Amino acid sequence: MTSSDEMKKAAAEAAMEYVQEGSIVGVGTGSTVNFFIDALAAKKDDIEGAVSSSEASTERLKKHGIPVFDLNSAGPVPVYIDGADEINEFGQMIKGGGAALTREKIIAAVADQYVCIADDSKMVPILGRFPLPVEVIPMARSYVAREIVKLGGDPVWRQGVTTDNGNWILDVHNLEIMKPMELEAKLNNIVGVVTNGLFAARGADVALLGSKEGVKKYTF
Ligand code: A5P
Repeated sequence: MTSSDEMKKAAAEAAMEYVQEGSIVGVGTGSTVNFFIDALAAKKDDIEGAVSSSEASTERLKKHGIPVFDLNSAGPVPVYIDGADEINEFGQMIKGGGAALTREKIIAAVADQYVCIADDSKMVPILGRFPLPVEVIPMARSYVAREIVKLGGDPVWRQGVTTDNGNWILDVHNLEIMKPMELEAKLNNIVGVVTNGLFAARGADVALLGSKEGVKKYTF
């Protein structure tokens, strides 16, 4: 495997092993997940359907004829398959590069198991080089940004982007996240924050990372 796309596709296809027959599959968002959705389409008659973390993934699932359920009326979700912008050796992640972090975090919370799929460039020793996305209620953008500066980050408004929930994104630069769980909780405590892209309290259980040598599996 040489290209990043080949590595993502290999990781996505390896995740099919975690899909349980007759179940509702939790589906994330992003370019790696798109490969997973395409692989899932070949097995669509073996599953009940999916719950989706974004309008983009819902559209792709439906195009393939995979039923998409409302999370409130869906049954159990044994596994959630999603990508990451960064992942560390503990399975803690930064997510939200595609602005879908809130719905991703909700399905991750519901699912019994989180399987992260990515290419191995996403594995990092310390989270924070990738700017940390924070979804905010629009009227609170400026206030939240000032509070984030007090925590040592440099927030930048992702102008022109509105999330599927009608909110805005601040990307927080220049963080070296030594205590991911602590920062996740602190950000959640700022009034006006809907979600932040640190997946530390609920990280991945398994990571399948495509590499030049093949797909590497990590369990956390
Ligand atoms: C979407 O909001 C993100 O959390 C994605 O899961 C993340 O950005 C990974 O995307 P790629 O698979 O495109 O790298």
